[in-house]
Amino acid sequence: MASARATVELIADKRRGRALAPGEIRQLVGDYLDGQTAEAQMASWLMAVCWRGLTEEELRELTASMAESGGRLDLSGLPGPTVDKHSTGGVGDKVSLVLVPLMAALGCFVPQLSGRTLGTTGGTLDKMESIPGVRCELSSSEIMRVVREVGCVIAAASPELAPADRRLYALRDATATVQSIPLIAGSIVSKKMAEGVQCLLFDVKVGSGALMTKAAGARRLAATLVELASGFQIRAVAMVTAMDQPLGRAVGNALEVREAIDVLSGGGPPDLRDLVLAEARELLRLSGQTADPVVALDGGVARERFNAMVKAQGGAPGAPLPLGVRLATVDAPRRGFLSRLDAGAIGLAAWRLGSGRRSPSEPVDPVAGIMCLAKVGAAVERGQPLLELWGRPGQDPTPALLALKGAVRVRSSPPPPRRLVLEHVAGD
Ligand code: URA
Repeated sequence: MASARATVELIADKRRGRALAPGEIRQLVGDYLDGQTAEAQMASWLMAVCWRGLTEEELRELTASMAESGGRLDLSGLPGPTVDKHSTGGVGDKVSLVLVPLMAALGCFVPQLSGRTLGTTGGTLDKMESIPGVRCELSSSEIMRVVREVGCVIAAASPELAPADRRLYALRDATATVQSIPLIAGSIVSKKMAEGVQCLLFDVKVGSGALMTKAAGARRLAATLVELASGFQIRAVAMVTAMDQPLGRAVGNALEVREAIDVLSGGGPPDLRDLVLAEARELLRLSGQTADPVVALDGGVARERFNAMVKAQGGAPGAPLPLGVRLATVDAPRRGFLSRLDAGAIGLAAWRLGSGRRSPSEPVDPVAGIMCLAKVGAAVERGQPLLELWGRPGQDPTPALLALKGAVRVRSSPPPPRRLVLEHVAGD
């Protein structure tokens, strides 16, 4: 049998754009986890992947070896379909807070292993933890207990699930190698494989507030995710959705929870409610169900599941959320129609107010954030407040206001209507 090639040869091959032989990526990942491949070598290989890409076979092997590097939730005994969604992240994206209990209310089981705030895009775990008492760092047995009792959970992936992705993701973050479609797809799908669900919806955001700023990249990522997940026998579908303005009106952890509760109570901003219902319908279709998500949402059953989930994770449903004070507003410079509400700039401003973190160990400030008082297309009067900045009493809003320069634009004629769901990508 031919002996394994040295890591340096695998790096050189990828640098030249050659595909590695079957088993070589598994070897690379294994050696990295065992400490036989140096951080510098792995970083170098990742950078070569950013430039040269991966073949389908290579991506499949990378994903499988990351998923198999740890344990897997055993969902086999649950008496209903197991489903989840993954958003590639956006500004004001609090869909999971509504969709997860909604799917549980519709008879599905949803073990959502989610992430923390990444850059200027909010993380569902930080939102959940702004609810007093809620804990998201749960062991695998606690996750399974909450899923069995309530039908859903929103928790952090425990260190035993896909540990190779955890290490590789940290390395990518530090070496500017996050932005690679195969690496993003492998990272996401490996974690969902460890979660063990049967059906998966990917919400691939595109626009200034998203990882993918161009439609072509978002489409390619959506297709790669669906194809990869389907190859591992997960029924998968992707939606490419707009992220050029924030989703809903609230940006920031506790503000977003308040808005999610509004939707769970039958109200809330129409774009957020519509996207939740569109995603619920896709997941129902994938899992072969025929229930009506509107009834579960407006009849209070989803809200009741949300409260049960909060309670099972240590929180007190209905306890006051930590809300700060209004620090400043951004006003309409003239009369007309709002034609731009830049998600990227608003995400950055909210981050500067404290809703995100600069290093992984830093806490987020649950009260920090921004309320969008008007959305693109709205008729506005000169001087009308368009954005409210929220924070701690006495906090200086200047850095956030600087980030918002040019973030809003008012034109004399209304902008063309925009679609929120731009595309669907289905599996075979
Ligand atoms: N989210 C992930 O989980 N992985 C990536 O690589 C990027 C976004």
